[in-house]
Amino acid sequence: MTQSLDELISQAQEKFAEAADAAALENEKAKFLGKNGVITGLMKGLAQLAPDQKRAEGARINQAKQQIESLLNERRDEFARAELNKRLAAETIDVSLPGRGRSKGGIHPVIQTWQRIEEIFRSIGFDVADGPEIENDWTNFTALNNPENHPARSMQDTFYVDMNDADGLPLLLRTHTSPMQVRYARMHNPPIKVIAPGRTYRVDSDATHSPMFHQVEGLWIAEDISFADLKGVYTNFLRAFFETEDLCVRFRPSFFPFTEPSAEIDMMFTSGPNQGRWLEISGSGQVHPTVVKNYGLDPEKYIGFAFGSGIERLTMLRYGVNDLRQFYEGDLRFLRQFNR
Ligand code: PHE
Repeated sequence: MTQSLDELISQAQEKFAEAADAAALENEKAKFLGKNGVITGLMKGLAQLAPDQKRAEGARINQAKQQIESLLNERRDEFARAELNKRLAAETIDVSLPGRGRSKGGIHPVIQTWQRIEEIFRSIGFDVADGPEIENDWTNFTALNNPENHPARSMQDTFYVDMNDADGLPLLLRTHTSPMQVRYARMHNPPIKVIAPGRTYRVDSDATHSPMFHQVEGLWIAEDISFADLKGVYTNFLRAFFETEDLCVRFRPSFFPFTEPSAEIDMMFTSGPNQGRWLEISGSGQVHPTVVKNYGLDPEKYIGFAFGSGIERLTMLRYGVNDLRQFYEGDLRFLRQFNR
């Protein structure tokens, strides 16, 4: 019996070594350690032996079983290591391959203008605010003193959203950034000094109008801000924006329901290729007392100015672009010129 157990162990070792892969190894394992395997058979045979013989023989069989198990585990580990090495080899990265490269994007000219405007106004103490493009008709129109029958409110001029807000107010795509005057002023205490750049929407489309366009709203409200401050601030802004002293600015009387008096701001270059022509650049005015009241402020105490300028318009003048639609066609030959 001693002989046969030792033989059994070396036989198992041989068979395990011969197994070509993990599956073959598990098959061999069954022959030795499985339910119908040799070891199980030997254990069953113990039943016929006398009790003291049974104990001694049982212990020897168990020992042999443990040895076979550890041989099995060694071989299993070998297969696991081989498998891992194979995977590591397959997954190696060839670091000498040339990279795929990543093309660099550029900042859109309209956004470059937006960023320049923020920089200039921040440098003279203006805050920069952001607000919803889907606006309710109270903030977009009513609070800004637009009469009930104002043409801007019509479906022909404004994109309405087929939905009301939580207060039951009709929703629309904001037609200008002026509602930001109301939103900002209702949330901040004077002095209020802010610009609000962003997207705006109107039912309008030709060489100088796009259904989506950008505006920047400016608002300065305090106890002593006058139309003269508007002239100074805006003229300095234009000089900084166009990087020239060679321009003049004119405030041409106009009308907006939310300002009184109101003015259209025109500018003219006095040198360079575009000199000598007045160009309309912005709406502006002294904020109407009714609007100051709608800010939640006392119009007897607070006064100031607002303006709303087209960002595309400023971009076109700065770079000499004559068709606004080029900004939205995504033609890289056009766009690359602004990112060199
Ligand atoms: N909101 C006006 C427009 O879109 C511009 C404007 C803003 C005029 C502020 C006066 C004051 O045309």
